[in-house]
Amino acid sequence: MVVENPLSLFFLLSLSLLAGVAMAKSTIEPCAGTDSCPSLLGYTLYTDLKVSEVAALFQADPVALLAANAIDVSVPDLENRILPAGLFLRVPALCSCSGGIRRSISTRYTVRPADTLASIATSVYAGLASADQIQEANSISDPAALDAGSTLVVPLPCTCFNSTDNFLPAVYLSYVVQPGDSVLGLASRYATTVTDIMNVNSMGSPSIRAGDILAIPLPACASMFSQNASDYGLIVANGTYAITASHCVQCSCGPGNLNLYCTPASLAVSCSSMQCTNSNLMLGNFTSQQTSAGCSVTSCSYGGFANGSIITTLTTSLQPQCPGKHQFPPVIPPPTTVLHDSFLSPSPSPAEAGGTITTNPKSSVPGTFTFPGMSPAYGPVGSTSEASFVHPFSHILYFVASSLFLVSLLS
Ligand SMILES: *[C@@H]1O[C@H](CO)[C@@H](O)[C@H](O)[C@H]1NC(C)=O
Ligand SMILES: *[C@@H]1O[C@H](CO)[C@@H](O)[C@H](O)[C@H]1NC(C)=O
Ligand SMILES: *[C@@H]1O[C@H](CO)[C@@H](O)[C@H](O)[C@H]1NC(C)=O
Ligand SMILES: *[C@@H]1O[C@H](CO)[C@@H](O)[C@H](O)[C@H]1NC(C)=O
Ligand SMILES: *[C@@H]1O[C@H](CO)[C@@H](O)[C@H](O)[C@H]1NC(C)=O
Repeated sequence: MVVENPLSLFFLLSLSLLAGVAMAKSTIEPCAGTDSCPSLLGYTLYTDLKVSEVAALFQADPVALLAANAIDVSVPDLENRILPAGLFLRVPALCSCSGGIRRSISTRYTVRPADTLASIATSVYAGLASADQIQEANSISDPAALDAGSTLVVPLPCTCFNSTDNFLPAVYLSYVVQPGDSVLGLASRYATTVTDIMNVNSMGSPSIRAGDILAIPLPACASMFSQNASDYGLIVANGTYAITASHCVQCSCGPGNLNLYCTPASLAVSCSSMQCTNSNLMLGNFTSQQTSAGCSVTSCSYGGFANGSIITTLTTSLQPQCPGKHQFPPVIPPPTTVLHDSFLSPSPSPAEAGGTITTNPKSSVPGTFTFPGMSPAYGPVGSTSEASFVHPFSHILYFVASSLFLVSLLS
């Protein structure tokens, strides 16, 4: 075929790209009922954004957002910290059941003057939403006439699959495939297998293309709180933290085992007592005593936040060996750059992270909050080196959207 002029090249190019976009796949989980469950959205910043701005895009709690990425939240002026374009974050999102499928429907976006549905979908929300989905969710008849200042519902893809994977606790990350990704690469990055990713996403072959949205199971620590607890179903991905009980309690997962471990959070908030009744132990404390039968361990653990109060439970058990000091997942300072060498191993093991893991769960400064085990040497969990693709890619999609508009005008 001879391409005769630049204009037809433009159309051929955009139509073939359009075909690619139209074929982007997304994993859908059918559901019934009205329950919701915890999930994570994989989000790549389209531009430099303050912590508060990223959180506002998803109506997320800034502290919870950073905790889910094992980023230190004790730094001063946290909300105004600038996070770099291209940074990859896990955004905690409540996954609802809506119209028979799992999706996150609580995100609202306020339209700015230059926005188009395509720019909101592919740029602001980094491909997590599509222009069509936003148009449908808001019953927009004329996408060309978006009113600046109006508020749009932005439906986002999420899955829970009963918060298990192969009968083990897991939290699912909705991941937008980037140029250069392979299933094998993703499997090794997220400590899972090609087979597992293929099964979860009902894939016949391990072939993916940029823009597809995969559900990636992350090993996690599950909670067993009573159904009355407002944080019922809390689940924390390995290597990360969650903040719960009105910022009073922090829970972490890993690295040594997948038992949820909760301690007082020491954020500057007033909290009810976190001491176990009939004991001088606080949340997270344990005592152990070697006996002839084994090690007798008494621990004070967190049982959920019910009716505005922190439930504590004191348990004594006999274990083969006395436990050592608790090890916490390493945390990093708020990233200022996207590290290029961290792409294939965004989640360094504690040993690789080079930091000594301190085991003191509390900040020494009263009224502030810190994650233990600071390790400033490495990039964020899940950071990506694909930053350079982000902008060109979204421009290609703008390009497709505008040519599509032209096609419809011409026909
Ligand atoms: C969901 O997970 C729970 C354990 O977390 C398990 O007891 C239950 O059988 C699972 N349900 C289904 C439908 O898989
Ligand atoms: C939880 O709710 C059940 C009823 O749904 C109630 O019987 C029980 O007392 C509640 N437990 C707590 C701790 O509030
Ligand atoms: C949890 O993460 C740590 C380090 O990040 C790793 O060593 C461990 O194998 C992980 N556990 C699971 C079950 O993936
Ligand atoms: C109990 O935990 C608190 C904070 O969580 C800590 O400061 C204290 O040292 C712990 N005490 C024991 C005996 O482990
Ligand atoms: C919750 O607390 C309030 C006041 O403390 C009490 O009146 C109410 O009965 C409690 N509800 C439950 C279900 O425990």
